Amino acid sequence: MTTPVIRALIFDLDGVITDTAEYHYLAWKRMADEENIPFTREDNEALRGVSRRESLNRIFKGAPIEESYAERLMQRKNEYYQAYLNTITPADRLPGVAELLEEARNEGLRLAVASASRNARMVLERLEMTEYFDVIGDGYCVVNTKPAPDLFIWVAGRMNVYPGEAVVFEDAEAGIDAALAGGFWAVGVGSSAVTHAHMVIPNMRVTLAQIREGLAQAAERKIPG
Ligand code: BG6
Ligand code: MG
Repeated sequence: MTTPVIRALIFDLDGVITDTAEYHYLAWKRMADEENIPFTREDNEALRGVSRRESLNRIFKGAPIEESYAERLMQRKNEYYQAYLNTITPADRLPGVAELLEEARNEGLRLAVASASRNARMVLERLEMTEYFDVIGDGYCVVNTKPAPDLFIWVAGRMNVYPGEAVVFEDAEAGIDAALAGGFWAVGVGSSAVTHAHMVIPNMRVTLAQIREGLAQAAERKIPG
C-alpha cells in the first residue's frame, strides 16, 4: 500500500476547530424572526460552509432580495453573531484539535485555516489558536467561496505545497466538494453530508497515523485525489 506524502494540513474552522454553527443559527434565527421569515434548525444545516451572502439567499429560498436590504440583514445578523463570539474561550476548541495540531507541528507539517467566514480571525483569537497556523485564509481572501476550490488553493500556494500534498478537514458538503475539486485529500468530519470525502472521521480525536492509513486505503480504492 502506498502512503500519500503529506506536507500540510488545512482546517475548516466552523464545525472542525470549534462549533460555531449553533451561534450562526441563533443569529440568523433572530434576524429571520424579526423579518417574519420561516427558518428552522434543519434549514440551518444547508448553510454549513457557505458564505454569508449565499446563506441569506438560501434563507430566502432563492427569492430576489433588494441589495441594500440584503446588506442591512447581513449586517444585523453579523452583529448578533459577533455578540456570541465574544463569549468563546479556549474551552470551546473541539476535542482532539489541539493535539493533532501539536503532533503535526512536531512533524514539521505546514498548517493552515481555510474558512468562508469573515470572522475567522476573531474566532481564532478568542480560541487563542492564531499562532498555530502558518496561513489563515478567510472570507476576505477569494471571490469564489466553497464549493469553489479557490480558498484551499490560495492557502496551499502560500504554504508552498501542491494540493495533492495537503489534507483538508471539513464538516460541510460544500467544503468537501471544494477540496475534491482542487485535487486535495479530503477528510470529512462528523456528519452524513461528507461521505464523499476520501475518509470520514466522527470527530477530531485522530492521529496522523490514522489519517495516513485512511488516505492510503482511499488511494487503493482509486478515488480521485
Ligand atoms: C462558514 C460557516 O464557516 O462561514 C457558514 O460554516 C457561514 O455557516 C460562513 O455562513 C460565513 O461566515 P461569516 O462569519 O462571514 O458570516
Ligand atoms: Mg465548517
